[in-house]
Amino acid sequence: MKIWNCKTWRDFPIQQHPVYENQEELLLVEQQLRELPPLVFAKESRSLQDLLALASKGKAFLLQGGDCAESFLHFNAVRIRDFFKVIIQMSAILTFAGSCPVIKVGRIAGQFAKPRTSEIETYNGIDFPSYRGDIINDMELDLEKRKPDAKRMLSAYHQSASTLNLLRAFAKGGLADLKEVHQWNLDFVKNNDFGKQYEKLADKITQTLGFMEACGINPQNTPLLKEVDFYTSHEALLLHYEESMVRKDSLSGGYYDCSAHMLWVGERTRAINEAHIEFLRGIKNPVGVKIGANITKDEILKICDILNPNNEAGRLSFIVRMGAKNIEKIFPKLLESLLKEGREIVWSCDPMHGNTIKANNGYKTRDFQSILSEVRSFFAIHKSYGSYAGGVHLEMTGDNVTECIGGSQEITESRLACNYNTQCDPRLNAVQSIELAFLIADLLKDRKID
Ligand code: PEP
Ligand code: CO
Repeated sequence: MKIWNCKTWRDFPIQQHPVYENQEELLLVEQQLRELPPLVFAKESRSLQDLLALASKGKAFLLQGGDCAESFLHFNAVRIRDFFKVIIQMSAILTFAGSCPVIKVGRIAGQFAKPRTSEIETYNGIDFPSYRGDIINDMELDLEKRKPDAKRMLSAYHQSASTLNLLRAFAKGGLADLKEVHQWNLDFVKNNDFGKQYEKLADKITQTLGFMEACGINPQNTPLLKEVDFYTSHEALLLHYEESMVRKDSLSGGYYDCSAHMLWVGERTRAINEAHIEFLRGIKNPVGVKIGANITKDEILKICDILNPNNEAGRLSFIVRMGAKNIEKIFPKLLESLLKEGREIVWSCDPMHGNTIKANNGYKTRDFQSILSEVRSFFAIHKSYGSYAGGVHLEMTGDNVTECIGGSQEITESRLACNYNTQCDPRLNAVQSIELAFLIADLLKDRKID
């Protein structure tokens, strides 16, 4: 293999990347980013890899989720808190109802860059450069504001730092204390069937804690009862930013992209011999690759050779996003042939990106039923080949949005307009997320293949 450094991606063809008009400013921003403190510590990324290794063996389960794209405008503490509450609620459901430790990884504190299908968006006969996420340009329909602006990388860095600061406080400072399990249920969720089901589960957890306390196990002598490990991740799309966040780890000597614990490349930028895969090759963080219905066995094997030459468990996740209609047709054969190769892979299911549809009223949406159907197929296919569904990758929020149709709230196409706030793709709201967690918990219980 050729020598890698954090700039070698620049010698490869690249997709979905902005071109900055002001090169001087770009250099200045990159320099500033290089001098700023890392957002995560390399050792945390190694701990995450160890946990992901367990997920690949069916001994833990990866719950990765968050906004499709974070926004500068909608950035506030309440949104972060409500998202955190929902993800730990889901994790409690999966752990207690599914009897499986859960690895919590947010699509947060850095998820700002978006690949787009088209270079141009046309409104009222005017062509605008496509919106590419707040780290690159502004969503507002204004030709000047749609130009890539390097200074936005600094804003994204600072927003990520304060988001992560709050998440770390929630995770270690008391909000994740199992004694608070009832407080995690958001008001608008409580009256829903699944909110009520959650309250029952929370009662059981409270009873169990009482029993454990009587046996001498309490949050004072067992910090695991009041703290969680929470990790961050995002798509490594904007390589000017990711390159500038690479730091050499003084403990191991390895290079880590310290913008997040885990990074992934998307379906549109995962070509072998292109820049994004080249960048991921050299960083030591656990990495993911999205794979859609067009992937071949040979491509997967080449990606394994490039990104995980030593076949380390937990290093490489494939995030399968084939769509409910395709997964049964394509994934079984692929998985069967790959299992024979003995590659260490964390298999995660993204049931969102292969199931995006356009509602009659023009809204981009996803049907809860298709999302569930893809997850069910994913588990069933793994079970039939004796391998493990290692995790899920979801676009979700703690807000009461109406972006995906269906679920127990029976959101219809005509209700999409009520609270459609996403910066990019439609997300599950808190009720839909909790409902999905209960349904996945049933699949997890059934996952054991001894
Ligand atoms: C995403 O995760 O928001 C995304 C664009 O996914 P994909 O690369 O799978 O299309
Ligand atoms: Co998306």
